[in-house]
Amino acid sequence: MSERTPMIEMCNVSKHFGSVIALSDISVQVHSGEVMCLLGDNGAGKSTLIKTLSGVHQPTHGEIRLDGTPARFKSPAYALDAGIATVFQDLAMIPLMSITRNFFMGREPTVGWGPFKRIDWKLADRIAKQEMGKIGIDVRDPSQPVGTLSGGERQCVAIARAVYFGAKVLILDEPTSALGVKQASVVLRYIAKARADGLAVIFITHNVHHAYPVADAFTLLKRGGSLGTFRKEDISREEVLNMMAGGAELESLDAELAEFQRSDTERAADTSGVRPPLAAGQ
Ligand SMILES: Nc1ncnc2c1ncn2[C@@H]1O[C@H](COP(=O)(O)OP(=O)(O)OP(=O)(O)O)[C@@H](O)[C@H]1O
Ligand SMILES: [Mg+2]
Repeated sequence: MSERTPMIEMCNVSKHFGSVIALSDISVQVHSGEVMCLLGDNGAGKSTLIKTLSGVHQPTHGEIRLDGTPARFKSPAYALDAGIATVFQDLAMIPLMSITRNFFMGREPTVGWGPFKRIDWKLADRIAKQEMGKIGIDVRDPSQPVGTLSGGERQCVAIARAVYFGAKVLILDEPTSALGVKQASVVLRYIAKARADGLAVIFITHNVHHAYPVADAFTLLKRGGSLGTFRKEDISREEVLNMMAGGAELESLDAELAEFQRSDTERAADTSGVRPPLAAGQ
């Protein structure tokens, strides 16, 4: 591996909630221009890990380093100021506010000075439209409510915002879980672009088809502990699937379903191709 300083690093971090040990002695690193995908079952500690990185929680033990410097964030606002932007699945946007307002979130450009200072909406609208255009989303009217955008486009506003304001680290908690194939691919393409722009990206997904194409490394959590970080070149798509929440179960379900199908075909063959009559209500 390279000797570069990681952009973001967790060093032996633990997080306890009373007697619950949500994270135990976790060490992970993500370099700029890299995407790390967090995997693990429900309750494994994925959200706790990213909330600890983004200033929602303070680590009980251990240290977070940003670009090599120890960092302690009192709140997500401090983390954001330091360059760590987090996009939460549901809290990313305020639906009734305009696209432009959601894009700037209180950081709108202003004109005038002192008591005459006011938001420059024309400029703000232009920047929002332009930044969305850069990622291939044509917003006709940026003053329309963000609720009129599709789920994927909304995720993209949140990501575009992070990039525009100079984030160094982009953290995404299941950004594609509620999206259809087309919208998920728009978001994934944008994650890939953020990576190419040199951001360090951490994201959680339960979908191997979303994780595998964009990730450089996978970290697997289990009951608060890390089972290790695997570089993509060292691990196949099938192995990633097995590490994912429910991956093994899905495989055995597949086998079970195949078994059903086989017995169906056998039954059909037994009755010389005549399907048994359906029972009432079927
Ligand atoms: N604020 C909290 N107070 C007490 N316990 C918590 C708190 N947040 C998380 N936990 C506990 O920590 C453990 C890890 O939770 P976490 O939400 O990080 O899991 P996760 O991997 O994100 O799961 P999922 O895939 O279901 O989102 C769980 O046992 C959870 O109950
Ligand atoms: Mg979670």
